[in-house]
Amino acid sequence: IKKVGVLTSGGDAPGMNSAVRAVTRTCLTHDIEVFGIFDGFAGLHAGNIKQLQRNSVSDIINRGGTFLGSARFPEFKEESVRKEAIKQLEKFGIDALIVIGGDGSYMGALKLSEMGFPCIGIPGTIDNDIAGTDFTIGFMTCLNTIVDAVDRLRDTSSSHNRISIVEMMGRHCGDLTLWASVAGGCEYVIVPEIDFDEDALIKQIMDGEEKGKKHAIVAITEHVTDVTALAKRIEAKTKRETRATVLGHIQRGGAPMAFDRILASRMGAYAVELLLEGKSARCIGIQCAKMVDHDIIECLTDMKRPFRKDLYELSNILY
Ligand code: F6P
Repeated sequence: IKKVGVLTSGGDAPGMNSAVRAVTRTCLTHDIEVFGIFDGFAGLHAGNIKQLQRNSVSDIINRGGTFLGSARFPEFKEESVRKEAIKQLEKFGIDALIVIGGDGSYMGALKLSEMGFPCIGIPGTIDNDIAGTDFTIGFMTCLNTIVDAVDRLRDTSSSHNRISIVEMMGRHCGDLTLWASVAGGCEYVIVPEIDFDEDALIKQIMDGEEKGKKHAIVAITEHVTDVTALAKRIEAKTKRETRATVLGHIQRGGAPMAFDRILASRMGAYAVELLLEGKSARCIGIQCAKMVDHDIIECLTDMKRPFRKDLYELSNILY
């Protein structure tokens, strides 16, 4: 391996910059040239590629977002589009690619590997929805942002005796909601992995009021239900003011916390080591504090992310 490309793809996540920095500097330490591919697979297809030096990644370890830019590019599912992308890589003499992103990005990396182009995947997404890793880059920072928002909502909900419904990101994974609910002391947690029983929720809220609870914070993952409509129904049944807050894209921004910077640095360096060992179509994870790697196909098909039932139960005990 003489020349490595690196790109970030899908929703940005705090810590992606730290990962690109680690890839770049590990490559340069091994006398491998590095090329930054801007705007994800869309930029790869368009040939938006520039060589990176050690100082190209100075002052980014602490910055949120991704300086390489990111994009969603469904066209990459087309084989003809991928062939054109490989031609762009060949133009620069790039012989391997490191893809930092979520499962959509992993699929792109897998397809390129199947076409004979060596790729390694690094899990970069706030959702923590990738199999084969305990944590994805960005999850912990996003979690902190959510918990900060929940703390603020608690103040105002408690002052006004209100019920607060807080919608959190996660796509179809309840991890952000679950962890935020334990850390933020939310009274009720609704995640996609557990069937949502609206009547039971309303009963629980009313029971809580009888026990003297001044507020009720309901943490819910996006896409489970329309939270504004849910707030109206809860208000009608409980006769208590109920407000819905959608945290939205605020959750994705901000400086990565130390945990994500270290995770990203370790993963970036590990990805280059795998390439040096001649490996391809692998994705990186952290399991029990150790760096691990798995086959991307297995990760996308056979491996399941375990649902943290223990945290769900804990949240229901501690509310
Ligand atoms: O995958 C990260 C994520 O932020 C999800 O939590 C969310 O469902 C989605 O991306 C939002 O995507 P977009 O920024 O394209 O609206």
